[in-house]
Amino acid sequence: MGNEVTLTIDDKVITVPAGTLVVDAARQAGIRIPVFCYHPELKPVGMCRVCLVDIGRPEIDRTTGQPVYEADGVTPRLRFSPKLETSCTTPVSPGMVVRTNTDKVKAARREIFEFILTSHPLDCPVCDKGGECPLQNLTMMFGPGESRFEFEDKMHLAKQVPLGELIYLDRERCIQCGRCVRFQEEIAGDAVIGFYNRGRGLEIVTYSEPGFDSIFSGNTTDICPVGALTTADFRFGARPWELTPAASICSHCAVGCNLMYNVRREARSNGRLVIKRTMPRQNEWVNGIWICDKGRFGYHYTESTQRLSQPLIRREGELVPVTWDEALEVVEDKLRASDSQVAGLAGGRLSNEDLFNLRRLIQALDGEALLHSYMGGGDLTAQVGAAPGTDLSRLGKGDVVMIIASDLHEEAPIWWLQLKQAAEHGATVISLNPRPTRQDAFAAHIVRYAYGEEVKTIRAFLPAEKESPAADALSSARRAFETAKDVLIFFGGEGMDYETSSLLARTCAELLVRTAHYGRANNGLVGVWQGPNIQGAWDMGFRPAADLKAALEKARTIYIAAADPVGDDPAAAEVLRKKFVIVQDLFLSETAKLADVVLPAAAYTEREGSYTNGLRRVQRFYPAAGALPGPRADFAIFAQIGARLGLPLEGKSAALVFDHIARRTPAYLGLSYPELARTEKQYPLVGRTAMYYGGTVYDNDQGLGVPLPLVEIGDWDKLDAPLPSPAAAVPAGALLLVPITRLYDRGTAFSFLTPLEKRLVSPVLSVHPQTAARLGLVAEEQVVLPLPGGDIMVKVSVDETTPPGVGLLPRSAGIPLAEPLAMLVQKMVKEI
Ligand code: SF4
Ligand code: SF4
Ligand code: FES
Repeated sequence: MGNEVTLTIDDKVITVPAGTLVVDAARQAGIRIPVFCYHPELKPVGMCRVCLVDIGRPEIDRTTGQPVYEADGVTPRLRFSPKLETSCTTPVSPGMVVRTNTDKVKAARREIFEFILTSHPLDCPVCDKGGECPLQNLTMMFGPGESRFEFEDKMHLAKQVPLGELIYLDRERCIQCGRCVRFQEEIAGDAVIGFYNRGRGLEIVTYSEPGFDSIFSGNTTDICPVGALTTADFRFGARPWELTPAASICSHCAVGCNLMYNVRREARSNGRLVIKRTMPRQNEWVNGIWICDKGRFGYHYTESTQRLSQPLIRREGELVPVTWDEALEVVEDKLRASDSQVAGLAGGRLSNEDLFNLRRLIQALDGEALLHSYMGGGDLTAQVGAAPGTDLSRLGKGDVVMIIASDLHEEAPIWWLQLKQAAEHGATVISLNPRPTRQDAFAAHIVRYAYGEEVKTIRAFLPAEKESPAADALSSARRAFETAKDVLIFFGGEGMDYETSSLLARTCAELLVRTAHYGRANNGLVGVWQGPNIQGAWDMGFRPAADLKAALEKARTIYIAAADPVGDDPAAAEVLRKKFVIVQDLFLSETAKLADVVLPAAAYTEREGSYTNGLRRVQRFYPAAGALPGPRADFAIFAQIGARLGLPLEGKSAALVFDHIARRTPAYLGLSYPELARTEKQYPLVGRTAMYYGGTVYDNDQGLGVPLPLVEIGDWDKLDAPLPSPAAAVPAGALLLVPITRLYDRGTAFSFLTPLEKRLVSPVLSVHPQTAARLGLVAEEQVVLPLPGGDIMVKVSVDETTPPGVGLLPRSAGIPLAEPLAMLVQKMVKEI
C-alpha cells in the first residue's frame, strides 16, 4: 500500500505508515531506542544524539534509477551511511535496514553518555527524579562506567532556583534537551522560558513576569528527562518508589482530565493515605497526556484543616457539633413535615451517583430538583451534543469549530490546547465574543458582537437568514461554516443569565440540526460548563431555575449540596433565612453559615464516583486519599436519609448506585462500572519506561470512560428559538457589569492551600479608557460597587480590550448567578 512502508529493524520486518520516524517504528515493533530530547508530542530536533542507529538503504543505480542487487540477483544491495544517524529525526523508507545494537552504535552511545554527564551533579540520592529518571536508568544500561572528566571541572551552581512560584530549576541537572522550552512554544503557546548562554553555561531562564507565567507549566516537570524541573509542592516531598498511583478525574472544569494521584501513608496524617503529587493519565479521547496547572495543584483544597469534620445543627442560634444520628434525625423530621414543599439545590461538583440519589430523594418528597448553574442547554447537548467518536485531537482540514461566549483558555484549558492544535492541523476556528480572548490567536475568523447579541449572532448562521451584504467578519465566518464537513459548537455563558443562555443553546442546536451537523462524530453542541459534572446533573434530572431566589422562596425546606448560593450572591441569604436549610458540603460556606443543619461531605479524592464531561464521556474516579473519620460520601448520606424516610436508596457503594443509573437513565442504559474501566491501546505510545521516555505521565489502565449515545431528538419544528428581548440601553453614567470566568478563581473549591495562591484573581473591574474617562475612573484606584447583595470593593483596571460601556469583573467577585443579563451600576463610590 502506498501509504505504508516496510523496513527491517534488528532483523524484524515491520510495516508502518509512511512518514513514521525510525524511533517510533522501532517502538511499535517492541524495539526500544533510548531518547532524551525526542518526545512523540514535540517536533524532533536531534539535539542529544543518544538515539543514534546504523541505517542502511537499498542502493540505487544513478544512471538507471533502478535498485542494485547482490550477486544472487534477488537481494537488494544495501548502502550504509558512513556515520550513525539520529533515529528520532529520520523517517522510515522502503527497504530500509536499521541496526540499533551494533558495536558501533554501543560505542557511540557510551560516548554520548559520558558527554552528557560531564557536568551532571550525580546527586541521584537526593534528586526528586531518582527512581524514575531516564538519565539514571539509561546510564546504568549504556553508560561508560567511568568518566574521563574531572569531578572538580563540573559546573557548580546554586541548587534549585525558582522559575516562578510553581516550578523550580536545578541548573546543574539540566541536560539541555530543550523539551521544556519546546513544550512551552509548540504546545502551550506560551514561550515564557528559553535557553540563555551557550555551551556548558547554557541554562533555562524565564522571560515572564511573574516567572514561568503559563497555566500549563507543570507539564514540563513531567517531560523533563532528569530532575532539573520540579514542582513547588512535590520537591523533596517523597521518593517515587514510596508512592502508589490512584486514578482520578480532575474536578475543576468540564474537560474531565484523567489524573493519577500519587499517594502514600504518612505518620503526620495518622497513617492516612495522603496525596503527594498529581500526574496526567493518558486518555487520547479527553486530555491526551497534558493537564493544566489548576488540575495539578488544585486538589490541595481537599486537605484544608478548615474542612467540616462533624455534622452541625443550629441550637439557640448557634451551629453546634452533633452526632450523625442526631443530625439525620432532624433532617428526617423536617423533610417529613415539609409537605411537598422541598427544594434540592445541587452543584456541578456532585458525582452522577450523588445526583441520582438526591434526585430520587427529592422526587419522593414531591419537591423540585434545582441545579446551581447559570447556563442552560444541558437537555439539548444530550440530544445534539458531541456524538460518540468525537476526538478533538483529530480535527483538521474541513472541520469547523465555533466558540461563542466563552474564554476557553480560562474556562477549559485543555480544550483550548486541543483546539489550538486542531487549527494547526487545518481546522477552521471561529471565535465569537464581545472581547478578545486567547482563542483569537488561532481563530481564522473573529466575530465581535455586543453583550446581549449572542443569539442574534448565531442566528446569522442559520440557512434561512439573509446574509448581510457587507464583507464583514460575520459574512466570511458564515461562508466558512457553510462549506464545513464537520461542525462543533462550544457555547459558554459569558454575559448571559440562564434564560438567555438557554436561548443561545437552542439557537446553536437549531443551527446544527438544520445544517445536519449532529448525530455523527466531530459534530454537535458542547457546553463549556462551570464544573466537572454539570452535564451529569442535567442528565440526572436537575435544572437551573430562571429565578433561583423565587424558586427557593416557594419551598419550606431547602437541601443544598455542593453549592454556595449565598457565597455567589449575598442577596440569596434573605430568602434562605426564612427557610429550614440543610447544607451538605466540605466547608462552612457562606450558605452553610446560615443553615439549620450542616452535613460534612467527603471530597472526591476520598471516594469513588463518576462524572460526565462536556463531551458527554462518563468517567470513573477512584479513592486516592484515605477517608476522614467524620465526612461521608454524598450518595451515602442521601441513602441514609432515604432509609429513614422509608425510601430504599442504594448507599453501600457508588458502583451499585451506578447500576441503578444504568437501569433508569436514558443514555446511561446498560452502562456499568467495568465498562467505564475499559481501556484500549493508545497512540502515541508514551509511558514511563526509561528507554523511550514520554514523561511521568501514566498509561491508562483504569478506564477511558464511555461516550454517551445521543438521546432521542426532540421536535425541532417547534424549536424556532425566539430572539431574547433586546437588552436595555445603558443609561449615560452607568456601567454594564459583566461577570467573566477566570481559571484561578476564588471559589471555596479552589482557594484553600493551593500553591497557586499568588495567582488567584483579585476583584478587578476592567473598563475601556473611554468608559473610565466618562465615569471619572482612574487606573489602580479602589472603588465601591453597590451590588444588590451588598457593596463590593474593586480595583479599577483600564484596558483597551474591554468593550466600551462595559465593566468586566471576575465571577467570584460576588455577582449574582442569575441576575438578568448583567447589572447596571449607576453610581460608584470612590474609596478615599
Ligand atoms: S530543564 Fe529538563 S526539559 Fe528543560 S532542557 Fe533541561 S533537561 Fe531538558
Ligand atoms: S483542563 Fe480542566 S479538567 Fe483538565 S486539568 Fe485543567 S481544570 Fe482540570
Ligand atoms: S537526538 Fe534523538 S533523542 Fe535526542
